[in-house]
Amino acid sequence: MEAKKISASRVYKSSHVLPPDTNNHGTLFGGKLMAYIDDVAALSARKHARKSVVTASTDSIDFLKPIKVDSEVYLESFVTWTKNTSMEVFVKIIAEDLYTGEQLLCATSFLTFVAIGDDGKPTTVPKVIPETELEKFLFEQAPFRAENRKRRRKESYNLITKIKENYN
Ligand SMILES: CC(C)(COP(=O)(O)OP(=O)(O)OC[C@H]1O[C@@H](n2cnc3c(N)ncnc32)[C@H](O)[C@@H]1OP(=O)(O)O)[C@@H](O)C(=O)NCCC(=O)NCCS
Repeated sequence: MEAKKISASRVYKSSHVLPPDTNNHGTLFGGKLMAYIDDVAALSARKHARKSVVTASTDSIDFLKPIKVDSEVYLESFVTWTKNTSMEVFVKIIAEDLYTGEQLLCATSFLTFVAIGDDGKPTTVPKVIPETELEKFLFEQAPFRAENRKRRRKESYNLITKIKENYN
């Protein structure tokens, strides 16, 4: 399977933040932003794998700054790293003040998607080729993040076992 450039999975999404999407603080709902993040990240994974994908996990989303009503919210995503059947996708979220043009990095997130074959089971994906400085940086750090996810997944299974024990 031929490796693909990271740039081939780049996805952009832009939206005007209007009152129905905001909370009582006049800022974008966290849940709305999470839906945008999953949406762009899934498209990046689809473009890289050219197969069906599912979200396996979302790392913590760091909401660094609020995104105010009447601003533009802009998301950019791309696949940073792959293992066998899984792909790590990075998403950055920027808000632009539509009066001044000032841009603020408001949030970042990493998600993991798994490619699914016609048999409904995980299937292998191509490797990535990082080119820019940021792509190379994220690529090099990715195995450490994957290890943390593996540990967290184990903890989730332990928790599920504990919960089940308490229901019986
Ligand atoms: C994600 C899923 C396909 C994994 O399937 P599985 O049978 O457990 O498969 P495996 O344990 O062999 O894992 C397959 C890959 O997923 C990765 N993976 C599984 N769970 C993960 C998690 N929570 N976080 C990150 N990666 C995960 C594994 O590391 C493995 O990666 P690799 O092949 O690159 O080494 C399965 O758990 C699933 O379908 N989950 C529900 C997905 C869903 O409904 N998403 C929301 C809507 S799209």
